[in-house]
Amino acid sequence: MTTTISAGDSTDTRAGVGLRLGGLRRAFGSTTALDGLDLDIAPGELVALLGPSGCGKTTALRIIAGFETADTGELLMGGEDVTGLPANKRDIGMVFQSYSLFPNMTAAENVAYGLRVRKASKAERAARAAELLELVGLPGRDKHYPHQLSGGQQQRVALARALAVSPRVLLLDEPLSALDAKVRLQLREEIRRLQLELGITTVFVTHDQEEALSMADRVAVMKDGRLEQCAPPNELYERPATPFVAEFVGTMNRLPGVVREGGTVEVLGRRLPVTTGQGAHPEAGRTVDVLLRPEGLQVHTGEQDGGEHATVRVATFLGSTTRLHLTTDSGAEAKADLPSWEAGSLTPGTRCTLTAHDNPVLVEERDNPVLAEKTAS
Ligand SMILES: Nc1ncnc2c1ncn2[C@@H]1O[C@H](COP(=O)(O)OP(=O)(O)OP(=O)(O)O)[C@@H](O)[C@H]1O
Ligand SMILES: [Mg+2]
Repeated sequence: MTTTISAGDSTDTRAGVGLRLGGLRRAFGSTTALDGLDLDIAPGELVALLGPSGCGKTTALRIIAGFETADTGELLMGGEDVTGLPANKRDIGMVFQSYSLFPNMTAAENVAYGLRVRKASKAERAARAAELLELVGLPGRDKHYPHQLSGGQQQRVALARALAVSPRVLLLDEPLSALDAKVRLQLREEIRRLQLELGITTVFVTHDQEEALSMADRVAVMKDGRLEQCAPPNELYERPATPFVAEFVGTMNRLPGVVREGGTVEVLGRRLPVTTGQGAHPEAGRTVDVLLRPEGLQVHTGEQDGGEHATVRVATFLGSTTRLHLTTDSGAEAKADLPSWEAGSLTPGTRCTLTAHDNPVLVEERDNPVLAEKTAS
């Protein structure tokens, strides 16, 4: 895809509008799909909504689109309250998970559909469809019907159709999940490039964390109809606000530790500062789970002081890093990522000492007192 849209082209004139979701609530019978969702999206930003199945991502998107109404809460677009505005007055382009092209229309007719609804002339429609199909990397496919296009090509047409009406906001609901891995990766990059080029405010729903982290300016992690944290990808990974975010994004170890005075926790023979995130600080003496990334652990060959003794169970070579699965002598399981050149001698069965880098950590109180007693003893 090499085409760029020239300055002054209709596609970019209305791009970059801000979006505010304020306290959105929506229940379906006894199911609460959204439970007070607050989110501010800056003009031209790409925000990914990430979260487990059923956490309300699609419901949020449908409320933004106007296909669904919130029970309470407000929606502002470019500072204007659009809560009660019907879908067709909102200037929104949407792409869905499943191929939603009209099967009896050609690619060009699909792309121009919204323009026909808006009574654009035939010549205008044809020119716009050709321009958009070229933009999404499908020049010359205007006469193809959906069944003559691959899944990836159909999603490109769907994207062109969403953009054809120069929407103020682009909404994408898992647009890549039905595609195979390679096409998904390619289209992911192209959507991002196009989005940056057009400067269009975009909300991208996914439950694929890699997709969210690699594409978005900020990732909004949702849980049970609420926002857990919204932050740029690196911040989300390095400074998760809650244990839920910490474990949902990337790999996390949970290792037993004991809270000490002065906002520290003792784990793997070290005392580490505790970041409280959004939770309260547990009292000194409590047994907690300490959340540690695999790259936050250190493994030394042999039984040394200043750490917990452990045995390597599995070593998986991953290229530049090697992931070790270890069991400590007190029975805890841990995953540690080491540069492969360091991990060479740490073959399965090797005795070693496991400790942690001196970084602030999140902790979570153990709900189960029996479990806490067991690991403390
Ligand atoms: N029209 C509806 N009628 C009844 N329940 C609904 C309706 N739409 C959504 N729900 C329920 O609301 C909750 C949130 O649904 P939603 O589709 O927003 O989740 P999601 O985060 O998009 O999940 P997924 O990742 O599986 O697509 C779910 O429990 C779902 O069953
Ligand atoms: Mg969904």
